[in-house]
Amino acid sequence: MPEKTALITGITGQDGSYLTELLLGKGYAVHGIVRRTSNLLRSRIEHLRRDPAIYDKNLFLHYGDLSDTTTLRRIFREIKPTEVYHLAGQSHVGLSFEMPESTCDEAGMAALRLLEIARDQTNPLKFYHASTSEIFGNALESPQTEETSMRPTSPYGCAKAFATMLSRVYRQSYGMFVCNGILYNHESPRRGENFVTRKIARAAARISQGLDVDLVLGNLDSKRDWGRAQDYVVAMWLMLQHDKPDDYVVATGETHSVREFVDAAFSFVDLDWKKYVKQDPAFDRPAEPARLAGDADKIRKTLGWKPSGGFEQLVREMVQAEVEALSKS
Ligand code: NAP
Ligand code: GDD
Repeated sequence: MPEKTALITGITGQDGSYLTELLLGKGYAVHGIVRRTSNLLRSRIEHLRRDPAIYDKNLFLHYGDLSDTTTLRRIFREIKPTEVYHLAGQSHVGLSFEMPESTCDEAGMAALRLLEIARDQTNPLKFYHASTSEIFGNALESPQTEETSMRPTSPYGCAKAFATMLSRVYRQSYGMFVCNGILYNHESPRRGENFVTRKIARAAARISQGLDVDLVLGNLDSKRDWGRAQDYVVAMWLMLQHDKPDDYVVATGETHSVREFVDAAFSFVDLDWKKYVKQDPAFDRPAEPARLAGDADKIRKTLGWKPSGGFEQLVREMVQAEVEALSKS
């Protein structure tokens, strides 16, 4: 039996799927919590589930939900995880204005439930909480560090700020090994289709093949610090391997506007984006950070983490993946 047992909430998401691959490669037994859905296909981890050498050997899936504390507690008791990566929850900032209550329950209260369960475990465990740059909101300084004050601008950001503070309280009050990864936007071909980078990459590929005629977006001026999801899951793992629990900003330090992302993606398929991109205020949020930029100095110096590739590479990878997917279908 592998010595290290990881439990991942949100295993079917973008980060959960890459983290699973990373941990399986390191010899972990990986347990994931999946929701009951009407469709059994879990596209991001389907390749692992279909591999008889992996599924039910080193990778195990358990039905559960963040609102179902009894089941979560039973899963902890049965598998006795040595590392818990809490990634699950509604993660779309814009939608958090439309569904504030469920978003805050999943992004905020669920962390409390899991920390309480973790506190009751007799075996030592390490806990990773998926915090976010959205806690800084309209930040008073740029770039932001672990010390920057929290000024969230959305229900999602508020709930994550609550869970981040709570994670610190559990670390300080109970001596638990709890880390906040304060991650800036990270993207990949596995990004959900209603996040802006995937939406743009997909549209650029489809328009170039005559399958779509336009792309409708919201705020093009917004600036984000975009990295590669594959790099960011390594940062999560590194935090739990260190001898001391702490909080770390994970970012590239480079910002680009949504307009620049559009320009780069359409250039990749030799199109002039101005002919195809329309703006609709329906995609605007009631409030949002105009610009987010992270200072990842601490994680670079303490854990030796650094991002691989740059903005151009990320855009290329994402558009290339869409073009390839279309040619296969
Ligand atoms: P994602 O692709 O949206 O995945 C979210 C995961 O949570 C999915 O596996 C989803 O399951 C699961 N989930 C949602 N509600 C649940 C519930 N009630 N019970 C159980 N599972 C539930 O998100 P991601 O991009 O991988 O991000 C992972 C985490 O990091 C999130 O907490 C996000 O807020 C945070 N974060 C992300 C970024 C980023 O740029 N990606 C940056 C900072 C922080 P289904 O597949 O069934 O929907
Ligand atoms: N989703 C979306 N759709 N965003 C758009 C659109 C559109 O059509 N048009 C413009 N945008 C702008 C948004 O207003 C925002 O400023 C920016 O593009 C990025 O939006 P998202 O890709 O939805 O990401 P996000 O920055 O709001 O949130 C992501 O990153 C956070 C970390 O900073 C999510 O992954 C969060 O879960 C994560 O915490």
